[in-house]
Amino acid sequence: MMRKGTTFTRFIIEEQRRIPNTTGEFTLLLSAIVTACKEISDGVNRGQLINVLGSADTENVQGETQKKLDIISNEIMLKALEWGGHLSGMASEEMEDVYPIPARFPKGKYLVVFDPLDGSSNTEINVSIGTIFSILRCPEGITNPTEADFLQPGTQQVCAGYVLYGPATNLVLTTGQGVNGFTLDQDIGEFILTNPKLKIPTAAKEFAINMSNQRYWEPAIKRYIDELIAGDDGPREKNFNTRWIASMVAEVHRILMRGGIFLYPKDGRENVHKGRLRLLYEANPMSFIIEQAGGAASTGRGRILSVVPDSLHQRIPVIIGAKEEVERVEQYHREMDATLGEQAVPHRQMEPTT
Ligand code: F6P
Repeated sequence: MMRKGTTFTRFIIEEQRRIPNTTGEFTLLLSAIVTACKEISDGVNRGQLINVLGSADTENVQGETQKKLDIISNEIMLKALEWGGHLSGMASEEMEDVYPIPARFPKGKYLVVFDPLDGSSNTEINVSIGTIFSILRCPEGITNPTEADFLQPGTQQVCAGYVLYGPATNLVLTTGQGVNGFTLDQDIGEFILTNPKLKIPTAAKEFAINMSNQRYWEPAIKRYIDELIAGDDGPREKNFNTRWIASMVAEVHRILMRGGIFLYPKDGRENVHKGRLRLLYEANPMSFIIEQAGGAASTGRGRILSVVPDSLHQRIPVIIGAKEEVERVEQYHREMDATLGEQAVPHRQMEPTT
């Protein structure tokens, strides 16, 4: 039977042809990332059968317990990307320091940062998880990049994408020319272009936030969420639904396809004081994708993509989704800061010390 649809390989080669004087380095890099994600997809899919679920009994740099699949996925990414000659270095959620390209391989003009398996608390319960990646240019003249070379604002990303391991495996990608979505055809092992030129619906009906943290929120977040919950009895005069999967990739994918807003704000807890999600390999790639799809991404006090990172594993508040909603949250922050002052707020809401 003849299959219809553009394969990912064809898609990226045709994209490359549009740009004069390209070397194909970027195309090969993307293709290597996609191959790694297919392998991760297979591991996630067969996890229980091949005994790779559960905790690895180790902690990552953030002090979070690593799952066996976190470590395996990280290894898969490193091994798939280190040999190709397109990279000068990599950084990952699972590694404290920059990963240099081994001396036996040639180096290239790009850097990659990734979260190999985001939402991995969900691996044991068969709930969707994903890989997030961001491609940056290696600064001119640098062949052994250090942390400082990765600290580029999100506006400088060459490409950002995620792969969602759900009932189907989806790849969503932007190179700054809109957003395209692909679905893995398991029979032929190829991603097929199924969602070209994705645009986030403008009217939001759903919101995603971990409600269990509400006692730590700043007043601006509390005000915004209270209004959504009040539904057609409140100032918004319409009802909103809520979803929380605890898997950012699944959450952002839903919002991209169906509209809405996702919030992981900073709050009064000691370890969430600057936010929970990581700027370089979670917030930036997702913000690039959502902006390219017509949405917005903010810390509540400014555009995420404009933030100049101060460290590899920096955390940041994330408010992302339909533009009007994100702008409203920003407005509530402005109004709150004008009366309370930003610095005063988190300290008023410290975690109880019971
Ligand atoms: O590391 C990130 C992550 O797993 C995200 O995918 C998700 O949005 C978030 O953590 C869930 O956090 P919490 O368990 O605090 O709700």
